[in-house]
Amino acid sequence: MEGPMRMSDVLTNSQPHNNYNTLNNEENSSGSPNESGFMVNKRAMYEPGAVMVCSQKRACCVVTLGFVAIIAVALIVAFTKPGCPEATYTGEPLPGQSIRPTSSPPTTPPTATNGELFPWTSVRLPTHVRPLHYDLSLHPNLTSRYVKGELTIKLTAIEETQQIVIHGHDLNVTSYKLHNKYEKPIGISKFLEYPAHQQLYLKLDEILRRGSNYTLRLSYEFTLKEGLEGFYLSSYKTANGEKRYIATTHFEPTAARAAFPCFDEPQLKAKFHLSIYREPHQFTLFNMPLQTSVKAEDSDLILDQFQESVEMSTYLVAFVVCDYDHVTNKTSNNVSVSVYAPPMMISQASYALRMATQILDFYESFFGVPYPLPKQDLIAIPDFGAGAMENWGLITYRETALMFDPNHTSSRAQQRVTVVIAHELAHQWFGNLVTMAWWSDLWLNEGFASFMENLGTGVAEPGWAMQEQFIVEKMQPALSLDALLASHPISTPVDDPAQIESIFDTISYKKGASIIGMLESFIGQDMLKAGLRLYLEAHRYGNAATDDLWEALTRILKKSGHNLDIKGIMDTWTLQAGFPLISVGLEDGLVTASQARFLVCEENVTDPNEPLNSTLGYKWHVPLTYVTSANPKNETMHWMNLTDVEFEVGKEVKWIKFNVGQRGFYRVTYDEGGWDALIHVLQTEPHTLSPADRASLLDDAFTLVKAGTINATVALNLSLYLKRESLYIPWHTALNHLFSWVQLLFNYSAHTLMLEYIHTLILPHYERVGWMDTGTHIERLLRSEILMAAVECGNIQAIEEAQKRFAAWRNKNESIPPNLRSVVYKTGVRYGTEEDWRHCWQVYNTSSIPSEKSLMLKAMAQTRDPWLMQQYLEYTLDGSKIRPQDVMIVLSEVSQNPGGRLSAWRMVRQHWTQISQLFGHGSFTIGAIIKAVTSPFTSAFDLGEVESFFSNVDVGPGERALAQALETIRLHIQWHEHNLDDVTQWLHQQLSQPEGRDE
Ligand code: BES
Ligand code: ZN
Repeated sequence: MEGPMRMSDVLTNSQPHNNYNTLNNEENSSGSPNESGFMVNKRAMYEPGAVMVCSQKRACCVVTLGFVAIIAVALIVAFTKPGCPEATYTGEPLPGQSIRPTSSPPTTPPTATNGELFPWTSVRLPTHVRPLHYDLSLHPNLTSRYVKGELTIKLTAIEETQQIVIHGHDLNVTSYKLHNKYEKPIGISKFLEYPAHQQLYLKLDEILRRGSNYTLRLSYEFTLKEGLEGFYLSSYKTANGEKRYIATTHFEPTAARAAFPCFDEPQLKAKFHLSIYREPHQFTLFNMPLQTSVKAEDSDLILDQFQESVEMSTYLVAFVVCDYDHVTNKTSNNVSVSVYAPPMMISQASYALRMATQILDFYESFFGVPYPLPKQDLIAIPDFGAGAMENWGLITYRETALMFDPNHTSSRAQQRVTVVIAHELAHQWFGNLVTMAWWSDLWLNEGFASFMENLGTGVAEPGWAMQEQFIVEKMQPALSLDALLASHPISTPVDDPAQIESIFDTISYKKGASIIGMLESFIGQDMLKAGLRLYLEAHRYGNAATDDLWEALTRILKKSGHNLDIKGIMDTWTLQAGFPLISVGLEDGLVTASQARFLVCEENVTDPNEPLNSTLGYKWHVPLTYVTSANPKNETMHWMNLTDVEFEVGKEVKWIKFNVGQRGFYRVTYDEGGWDALIHVLQTEPHTLSPADRASLLDDAFTLVKAGTINATVALNLSLYLKRESLYIPWHTALNHLFSWVQLLFNYSAHTLMLEYIHTLILPHYERVGWMDTGTHIERLLRSEILMAAVECGNIQAIEEAQKRFAAWRNKNESIPPNLRSVVYKTGVRYGTEEDWRHCWQVYNTSSIPSEKSLMLKAMAQTRDPWLMQQYLEYTLDGSKIRPQDVMIVLSEVSQNPGGRLSAWRMVRQHWTQISQLFGHGSFTIGAIIKAVTSPFTSAFDLGEVESFFSNVDVGPGERALAQALETIRLHIQWHEHNLDDVTQWLHQQLSQPEGRDE
C-alpha cells in the first residue's frame, strides 16, 4: 500500500467523465423538466428563504461591513494624499481584500529595520502604482554564492501618490532611483524596509501623476542558499562522483520577492526581460528563449539575454543556471519542447518529452487557444520542494516526477510522471494565461489543473483507465478530508504568505477537481469545454475570480437554451466547507432523501441548528443520481436544491444505488433494508453495479462506520463480496479502508483477526495475479497492491518469494521487474539483516534512477531493527545524507512501520526547532509532517500528548493541518468506542466459519 498523504501525493492526478445522456431522462419531484431537459427545482433555487433571509445579526454585519469599507476608502484616500502617509498604519484593508485580520496582526505600530515607523500596515500592496515591465539583470556566483542584481521597473500611477510600496525579502538594496518618463530624476526622501511583511517603502519628493509612467531603478545583492524556494542552490553528482552546483528558482506563491524586488501579487502582471551572467561551461534558461549570448567585457563570463516575456504574474517567473543535457522535439504547431536533466539521467528523459509534446498538442485543441510561447522546457531539479512548478515556458520538476526508465520504473511512478506533466501543462492555460485575481481563488488554478491532468494523461495514455481512476485519486481523498470540521471552503480568504501556503491542499486540488467533475456530469463535457474556452478567451493575459468562470458557463448554457443557475448551484460547493450526507429511505416505491452536512467526528457536532458560519446554512444543490434493480444501467437524476426530496421509483424496485459512479461530491446512507439489499446484490451479482459504484459503496460504508452512522457489520458484510472482485478501482478503495482498520486495531487482539480476514479476501486474488509483471496498466497497479497486502497479512509464500527475489537482486544483481520492486525491497528490508539495509543505503546513494532511489527510501523505513531505525531518522536531520525534499517521505514511511510510529513522533518533538527551521515556511511540508507522525495515534493518551506538545510551539502555516491531525486522533478514539466490540465479534464469527460459507 502507498503511504499516507504527503505533499507530492496529496497533489496527484485526476480525470474526465463519460456519459452525459443521463441529462435527458430525469424526472423531478418538485421542479419540472425545463426545455433543456435539466432538472431544476426552480422553487427551491429562486426562493429567497434559502439564501436571502437576513437576520438582525446579519443586518448588523452588513452595516458594520459598510462602515469598515467607508473607513478603508477614507484611509486609502488619506494615503494617496501627499504629506500624510502615516495615516495608514491602522492597517485597514484594501478594497476587494478580506477584512479578516492577518494571521499576525501587528500589536505595535510596524517598525522598519531602521527603527522608524513603517507607514504601510497591510500585508497587501497599495493599488496606487502598478508595474508594466521589469528588466532584470543578475550576476550569480555559484562558488562564492554572492548574487548581484540590477533591476529597472517601469511603473504606471493608477492614482496620485507620493509613495511606492513594493515587495522584497532578505535583499540588501544598495541603490534606488526614480525617474519620470522624460528621465528627469524624482527625489526619494525615505527608503524603509519592513521584514515582517517583506515590504520596501519609498517616500518621494513629488507626487506621481495619475496615468503617467515612471522608472524605478534598484541595485541589490543577496546570498544564494541551499534551499527550496526563491533563487536557490541545488546540486547533483556526476558519474565520477563530482558535485556540481546549479542555481534555480521556485517562486510560487510568494518567493519571487526573495530574488528581486517586485510587486509580488498575482494580479500585478507585467512583462519581464532577463539578462544573466554565467560561466562558459554552463548555460541558462528563462521563461523565454535565449536572444543573445555575449562575452562579458571584464571577465571570462558570458552574458545571456532573453526575449521579453508575455504579460505574466511574478510567481511564474523562472530561471536556471546549469550544465545539463537535453532532448528536444516539436509540437504540430511548431512549439519547441525540451527536457533537461543531469547528463547521467538524460536517457530517462525521452518518455517525458513524448508525453509533453502530445499533451501540449491536445490542450491546444481542447482549449482552442494556442500555446503562446515559442518553447516549453521541462527541467529536473535535484532539490525540489513540491512535485513540479508550472513556470510559464520553463516547468521545474522533482526528478521522480519527470524521469522514467521502462526497465526500472513502476507503472505507478510512470503514471505520476505523466500526470504531473499533464497537470503543469494545463496550468499554462489555467493559471498562466488566466490567473486567479487573488490567492483566495487558488482552486481556479489547482482544481482545474487537477481536473485536466486526468484528461491530458488519458489522451496520451488511452489504456490507463484515467477516467475510472478519478474517483480514487480525487473524489475519495477529498471527501475524506472534507468530512473534518477543520476543513475549509474551496474559496477562502487568505492574506499573508503563511495563509496562502496553507491552501495548497487537498481541498483546493482534489475537492476543486471533484466539483468540476460533478459539474461536468450534469452539464456535459461539450458545455464544460465551451464554457472554459469562453472563460480563457475573455480573461487571457489577465485575471479572474470564481464568479467569472460561472458567468462564462452560464452564458454558454444560455446560448444553447439551458437555464441553469450555475453560480447558485456551485456557490453551495465552493463557499461552504464540507458536503452533504444524503440519507435515503425507500418504502412502497417512494424514495425520501434528506441532506445534512456530514462530519465524521461526532464530538464536533454542536447544535445542528446553528450553522457553523455558512450563510447557506450547510445545504447544497445536490445532483442526486441513482440506478435501481429495475433499471440498473440507466441513470436518473433529481436535483435537491437546498432541500430534501421525495419521488417515486416503482414498487418493484428491490435496490437503489445513489451517486452513480461516485461523480457527485456527497455521500449516501440507506436505511437498514437499503444497505442489506445492496449487500445482497454485491454478494450475488456484483457485476450488476459498475466498478465505480462498487468502489463508492465501499468508500461510503467504511466512512459511515467511522462516523458512527452505521454499524461496522454493514461495511464488513459488504466487504465479503471482495472475494469475487477482480478490478483495481474497488480493490484500491477497499485496501485503503481495510488497512486503515488494521492501523486502528494495532495493540488490540482484533489486529491479527483483521489481518487474517483481509487475507481470506485477497488470497484468491493473490493466486490469480501471480508474480509475473504483465497485463494492462491497471492490472499491474492492482498486482503491486495485492502482493504488498499479502505480505502485510503475513502470507508466508509471498514473504518467501519476495525474500528470494531480494537476495538474488542483492547477491547476483538479478533484476526485478519494475512493478514487483516495491514489495520485494520492502519485504527484503523488513525481514532482512543490517547488511541488507546497508545495501539499500548504498544503492540509494549511488543510483542515478530517481524512481529507484525513492523505492530505497521507502524500503529502508521498513526495518524492524530499532537501532537502524533510529539512525535512519537521525539522517533526516543531516542534509548531506537525506535531502530536505525527501525528509517527509522518510518520516511518513517510518510512522507507518509499527516499530517506528513512536520513534518518528519522538524525533519530530525532540528536534522540532531544527525541523521547523527547515520546513517552517512551506506549510505543506510542516503540515504534512505533523499529520504523518501523528496519524497512527488512536488513544486519549496520545491525543493529550500531541495537544500538550503543540500548545507550546508555533506551527506557523501548519496550523490547519495540526487542527486536522488532532481531529483525526479524536476520530480514531471515537472509532474504538463505537466499533471495537462489534468488529472483534464479527471477525471471530466470520473466521470460525468454514471457508467459502459466505459465497
Ligand atoms: N503550482 C503547483 C506547485 C506548488 C505547490 C507551488 C505548492 C507552491 C506550493 C504545481 O502546479 C503543483 O500543483 N504541483 C503538484 C503536482 C501536481 C501533479 C498535483 C505537486 O507539487 O505535487
Ligand atoms: Zn498545480
